[in-house]
Amino acid sequence: MTASKRIVLSSDHAAIALRQAIAAHVAEKGWEVVDIGPTTPESTHYPLHGHAAAEKVASGDCALGIILCGTGQGIMMAANKVPGIRCGVCSDTFSARMIRQHNDANILSIGARVVGEGLALDIVDAYLDAEFEGGRHATRVEMIEPTD
Ligand code: RB5
Repeated sequence: MTASKRIVLSSDHAAIALRQAIAAHVAEKGWEVVDIGPTTPESTHYPLHGHAAAEKVASGDCALGIILCGTGQGIMMAANKVPGIRCGVCSDTFSARMIRQHNDANILSIGARVVGEGLALDIVDAYLDAEFEGGRHATRVEMIEPTD
């Protein structure tokens, strides 16, 4: 399968069960899922998992990513430190659709202690089923990355 249909998933310990539910759901939608864990419940550090997923996307190995921690906030902050990554935290389907349509977000972050599984799967659908609109939004997205 080409990278255009490959998606990386990662989380910290707070979101393992939801990440695994999302992995199954995304695979059912026809994506090749690269789930980089973790799989065991020991406490871990969300920046490690945010950076690892972001590198998969920034390198072109995966087209998109979905990352999770308790709030979705810390892992999002870590992912956004990797050049080329545009990651937003979403707790509603409108935002999930818009970060793809207007911001060309290449990673979605979700808080496992914020939303339940049903809403999380709807958020994932809204994100994956949307498309970047380009045009004036492309100009703005190009301006996000700082220039020297
Ligand atoms: C872990 O307890 C928690 O701090 C983490 O999952 C996340 O919410 C951080 O942003």
